[in-house]
Amino acid sequence: MTAANFDEIAPGYDESRGGTARAAGFAEQLAPLLDPARPVLDIGVGTGIVAAELTARGHTVFGVDLSPGMLARAEARLGARVAVGDACRLPVRSGSVDQAVSTWLLHAGPDNRAVLAEAARVLRPGGRYLVIPAGGTRPADDVGVLVGALEDRLDPEGSRRDGPEWLAPIAAARGLVYEGTASERPTSFQVTPRAMAESLTRGLFTGAWAVGDEATALVDETRSRLLALPDPDVPRVREAADVVLVFTRKT
Ligand SMILES: C[S@@+](CC[C@H](N)C(=O)[O-])C[C@H]1O[C@@H](n2cnc3c(N)ncnc32)[C@H](O)[C@@H]1O
Repeated sequence: MTAANFDEIAPGYDESRGGTARAAGFAEQLAPLLDPARPVLDIGVGTGIVAAELTARGHTVFGVDLSPGMLARAEARLGARVAVGDACRLPVRSGSVDQAVSTWLLHAGPDNRAVLAEAARVLRPGGRYLVIPAGGTRPADDVGVLVGALEDRLDPEGSRRDGPEWLAPIAAARGLVYEGTASERPTSFQVTPRAMAESLTRGLFTGAWAVGDEATALVDETRSRLLALPDPDVPRVREAADVVLVFTRKT
């Protein structure tokens, strides 16, 4: 997903993604893992809705984001502590950051390898990078399997995968040790094959990333396969968890 895509969805972003309840939940998960005496860098801060909730809990948060449209909203919340910048080339001095966070960034466009390399570069030795993934570990139900296969074909390099099994070796190669998950928060989510097919039609993938005809054909094929599943109107219930992935910069 490019900055231009996020500029377009910025006006409705917060409400369409769970609003303050999502942001407050994430802040509740992150805050106990952060030192309130030291500033926090939020990489891919977006509209600043999560950063504002961390601020309300006593943290000083600086934010970087590629989308001026998202960032304008963050500036309204956080003031001058935000800057336009690329997570793959952070405008931040090496070894100058004690703690950084990203919520729902790594699935959203930037190459996960480049972001983890930059996090490793800007963190001081011993500093931590806390990540709340959007995709995480893939659901094993029939809808999840079909959508996972589509994601693999649209993103064969796995540059937008954000589950720990995928990120841990990438991080290790860049000097970040994956310490495991912290602060699990159970979530429950339902999806029918038909609803997922409709989401694909509305551009769940094709609207999110700049794609060509070949990708559109892959999406159409997956839509047909979803609608051909048994009981396409029966929800698949997913018991999942929002987790914080903890990475530490090697000393
Ligand atoms: C799904 S939103 C999440 C925003 C925020 N962290 C939250 O949880 O509400 C993803 C954000 O990542 C930003 N983003 C995407 N690619 C980026 C990049 N290369 N550098 C910095 N930000 C990027 C987008 O502009 C968008 O604001």
